[in-house]
Amino acid sequence: MTHYEQLFENNKKWVDAMMETDPHFFEVLNNDQKPDYLYISCSDSRVPVNEITGLMPGEVFVHRNMANLVNNIDLNVMTVINYAVVHLKVKHIVVCGHYNCGGVKAAMQPKDMGILNPWLRNIRDVYRLHHTELNAITDEHERYDRLVELNVIEQSTNIIKTAVVQKQFYQTGYPIVHGWVFDLKNGLIKDLNINFIEILNNIREIYDLTGMDSTYSEGVD
Ligand code: CO
Repeated sequence: MTHYEQLFENNKKWVDAMMETDPHFFEVLNNDQKPDYLYISCSDSRVPVNEITGLMPGEVFVHRNMANLVNNIDLNVMTVINYAVVHLKVKHIVVCGHYNCGGVKAAMQPKDMGILNPWLRNIRDVYRLHHTELNAITDEHERYDRLVELNVIEQSTNIIKTAVVQKQFYQTGYPIVHGWVFDLKNGLIKDLNINFIEILNNIREIYDLTGMDSTYSEGVD
């Protein structure tokens, strides 16, 4: 049996295991989804959300792309965010980057990457925004690690800049946006503890798309 054919065998074993745990599992799965989480991560094969968080099928809505970018004119990610917030009414949006991200490394190489250039340019823009902090880090690996973190923070901020997130949050108190980094070396998730309310309030001067004349300060979960 080839490795490819093994996938179908694995699938049958998984079905059997799920049925053994809960005979109604697939009946429930076949109902409408009601995930509390939208998870945006790198396409990297080493960052599988369900495995690393213990979330089951139906519990997390997922979007993945190279280097977990949230680009304002990427219709794909904007559609996912809109659907997750307006229709699924997710309570949490997580941007999860990871150390040793090939996309982040590639973005900082001094060479023409062809069709990858415009996508990776977003990461160079993150570097430019934070070049004082990054240039002060002498160790190259530490500098890349920090760029991975800053990229997550900037992409989280990009989510907070959207009208759909601002409006839904002012009306319902959700979604809350979080930034994580997955560490391949030990399998642990690092919560960057971004201050959602502070970022929201800080960006309103320029990115307010609601016209609501108040600063949000109520406690959130
Ligand atoms: Co990556």
